[in-house]
Amino acid sequence: MLELVVLISGTGSNLRALLDAAEDAEYPARVVAIGADRDAEGLALGEEYGIPTFEVSYGNFPDRQAWGAALADQIRVWRPDLLVLSGFMRLLPHDVVAEFGPNVINTHPAFLPEFPGAHAVRDAVAAGVPETGASVIVVDDGVDSGPILVQERIPVLPTDTESTLHDRIKHVERRLLIQTVLDVANGTVDLKEASRA
Ligand code: GAR
Repeated sequence: MLELVVLISGTGSNLRALLDAAEDAEYPARVVAIGADRDAEGLALGEEYGIPTFEVSYGNFPDRQAWGAALADQIRVWRPDLLVLSGFMRLLPHDVVAEFGPNVINTHPAFLPEFPGAHAVRDAVAAGVPETGASVIVVDDGVDSGPILVQERIPVLPTDTESTLHDRIKHVERRLLIQTVLDVANGTVDLKEASRA
């Protein structure tokens, strides 16, 4: 059974999909803790699903390195097999990536390397592209620059706003995330191998 710590910053709707998938006894992964860098709405899922949560608020630390060290202390308690960034809107400091990598994955609402960063959906709408996408990557030290594990194209409709497009992207992200975690658990995806390529 693959044990996951999931980090969020927002509503955690993709996390909810993963928690629902993990309720199936056949699914080979379980979320053992949920962490956030702020008082994220999605932390409430911990109570709903009976999973411990932790909050390491960025603003409580003098710098990124101190924040990263406190975050790593919390993650380490759970000895996760895999760390999942699911709408976690901060760059992980180098030391955190070095400690938990390559077993750290991130979902991103664009067809990377297109539209990296915190406003991927807004940027795609603003660019007027006919299609964007969703990606799951291995986290490295850069901004959404790690090896791509899986990705899928999603059309941008003429009527789309950032919000309607993001909703459609999240549906795909959820499926890709659940499948990727399954693939890591059953060995179809080897993160060490993927990050060497
Ligand atoms: C997701 O679309 C995720 O890919 C994105 O935040 C959303 C979180 O939604 N992450 C990034 O943009 C990271 N660069 P949720 O909180 O409803 O799951």
